Amino acid sequence: MTFGIDDLPVRDELRGKSPYGAPQLDVPVRLNTNENPYPLPEALVERIAERVREAARDLNRYPDRDAVELRTRLAEYLTNTSGHPLDVSNVWAANGSNEVIQQLLQTFGGPGRTAIGFEPSYSMHGLIARGTGTGWISGPRHEDFTIDVPAAVKAIAEHRPDVVFVTTPNNPTGNAVPAETVLALYEAAQRAKPSMVVVDEAYIEFSHGASLLPLLDGRPNLVVSRTMSKAFGAAGLRLGYLAAHPAVVDAVQLVRLPYHLSAVTQATALAALEYTDTLLKYVEQLKTERDRLVAELRAIGYEVTESDANFVQFGRFADSHAVWREILDRGVLVRDNGVPGWLRVSAGTPEENDAFLDAVREVKKEQNT
Ligand SMILES: Cc1ncc(COP(=O)(O)O)c(C=O)c1O
Repeated sequence: MTFGIDDLPVRDELRGKSPYGAPQLDVPVRLNTNENPYPLPEALVERIAERVREAARDLNRYPDRDAVELRTRLAEYLTNTSGHPLDVSNVWAANGSNEVIQQLLQTFGGPGRTAIGFEPSYSMHGLIARGTGTGWISGPRHEDFTIDVPAAVKAIAEHRPDVVFVTTPNNPTGNAVPAETVLALYEAAQRAKPSMVVVDEAYIEFSHGASLLPLLDGRPNLVVSRTMSKAFGAAGLRLGYLAAHPAVVDAVQLVRLPYHLSAVTQATALAALEYTDTLLKYVEQLKTERDRLVAELRAIGYEVTESDANFVQFGRFADSHAVWREILDRGVLVRDNGVPGWLRVSAGTPEENDAFLDAVREVKKEQNT
């Protein structure tokens, strides 16, 4: 027998668990990880090279540990796109929004504390909770995947969690959460504890509606997290950020590792932000493609959850994993998130989406014969 994880003195709550990760298979069309299918434009690639070359000259030094220039530019981006004024004191950045979430849970969760999310939702919220020793509570949703507000308010009153997660647009279901729902949950969380409410807006640029950033006004226990992995088409960069009251930005600095954001990361993110307008044009194309996927899937006869994201949840299937496999057999990889009866497809290029639609049309025809 070979020596394995279980032979090591790992923490009890990690025993028998598997690491997070979407299966990556070598197939012609990969629409399973909600990435942006468009590579960065060549002019931006050149600008990144230029900025990174400059940064490389100082790599003998530690980077700006407060990432002031980057946070200033991110605050400008948020202000310009939401109309809600924010500055550097409201913004914090880390290696992907996963690290932002980890820092929030290290700060406001931890041993003896709990966090709640309304599932199905982004499974990393629960996994990062586990990794930080925070207890995880799975809150309710309606059958149509909207948050069941009375049940959610009741769960918050009952469990008195320290952190409440709301993902809008939600992953994997795609639906956006109305501001009134977030407000009801925020009020419930303040009555119960008070606790922090984290609104994960990883996909907000793809939404038909507006960002919930204006809700930050007068709500110091509210945090909005964002990422450059989706709309900016820079998943490989690993840059996430949050907007909140300046006290929250001060608080997460208690747990961040010194110099957590490398000079190369900061330089690359700054270059990408110079190309915001260009990158947001790709977002518009993806929104059109997302709407086309919704319409065509419905025309084929599938049920589709309303989508405000760059992906679409479709069903219903008696055996979603078998259908996932049939689509894969036709050269298209989608995601089986384990939501019974449903699969998720990311919006790709028009050609990739055509390949996906051809595949599911065939699958549907076979099911009907
Ligand atoms: C809802 C949600 N939040 C956060 C993330 C993580 O993004 P990042 O790449 O910034 O860590 C994802 C990635 O899929 C996501 O779906």
